[in-house]
Amino acid sequence: MNHKTKTPSFHVGPIPVYGHVILAPMAGFSDLPYRSICRELGSAMSYSEFVSTEAIIRDNQKSLRMLRYATEERPVVFQIFGANPEVILEAAKRISELQPDIIDINMGCSVKKVSGKGAGAALLKDPSKIGHIFNLLSRELPFPVTGKIRLGWDHDSLNYRDVVRAMQENGAQLVAVHGRTKKQAYQGQANWDAIAEIKSMAQIPVIGNGDVTSVADIKRMRDHTGCDAVMIARAAIGNPWIFAGKNAEDVTLAEKLTMIRRHLAANLEFYEGDYGLILFRKHVAKYISGIHGARELRAKLVTARSAADFANIVTAAEQQTTEENLISH
Ligand SMILES: Cc1cc2nc3c(=O)[nH]c(=O)nc-3n(C[C@H](O)[C@H](O)[C@H](O)COP(=O)(O)O)c2cc1C
Repeated sequence: MNHKTKTPSFHVGPIPVYGHVILAPMAGFSDLPYRSICRELGSAMSYSEFVSTEAIIRDNQKSLRMLRYATEERPVVFQIFGANPEVILEAAKRISELQPDIIDINMGCSVKKVSGKGAGAALLKDPSKIGHIFNLLSRELPFPVTGKIRLGWDHDSLNYRDVVRAMQENGAQLVAVHGRTKKQAYQGQANWDAIAEIKSMAQIPVIGNGDVTSVADIKRMRDHTGCDAVMIARAAIGNPWIFAGKNAEDVTLAEKLTMIRRHLAANLEFYEGDYGLILFRKHVAKYISGIHGARELRAKLVTARSAADFANIVTAAEQQTTEENLISH
């Protein structure tokens, strides 16, 4: 895309962002192949899956692979999680060498393995620690530091105002807000009123997140909250076209099958073999959910034992689609 003639939608520190809809970080999903597809279709920036700061300083290769990116994805955000400010700083410095555009601190993860160890959403319990982390990182790193939060630990501790204040007073350049508490996990409805409140008080850009399930919801959330951009997680799995303004039901089966082929090929290349196929099963189940005859096709695809088997099944489905089209016209 030629940005020279376009006005940025907003800035993260000095980094211009063009567009208002962004693929959310999702462990197990938002890897280089999938992010690249979403970015090409219109996602305005690329967040990595969250990566453990402890793993980074141990030089864990599997974790470092999550930080590989394509130049076309820029602006690229590396999202990291940890509990210890010094370890977070050390990890952030190490991955600086990989030249991301932005580093983001995860303060929203609700799973026990993370929040039980003081990282992710557990940081929300201690806004002064959050302030300390942002202070350290924003002084020491050569690029903007941002954070992704929830509204608080539980309904009785909705301390998002304190958290956002601590962040921006200590150099944070953007906040992404999932409008739920840690205790809610994914239950109930995301609270868009709270996101609107954060937008009205914050001096830094605000990304709204939670329960955007369709193209219409993108506008609804922006109208309701005034947020600078909307972040989409679950509704983007199987429908990267949401970033191009299309709901899943508006995408033809032929388009989906073409994307399935392309996405799988990118996965096989990135993960060098069968692991790419295994990881792709979760995507394919979503690509084809809701389509006519999906159950049978899904059963075949998710049990395919090799990439070649997989390709044969897709080819047969493509032929069937073409024949059905010919008959119906
Ligand atoms: C499978 C999955 C993995 C996720 N991994 C991350 C992650 O690594 N980092 C993060 O900040 N949030 C993560 N999230 C939370 C999402 O980014 C997002 O905040 C949440 O799903 C709400 O948005 P949605 O209603 O559009 O799904 C994950 C969510 C899902 C469903």
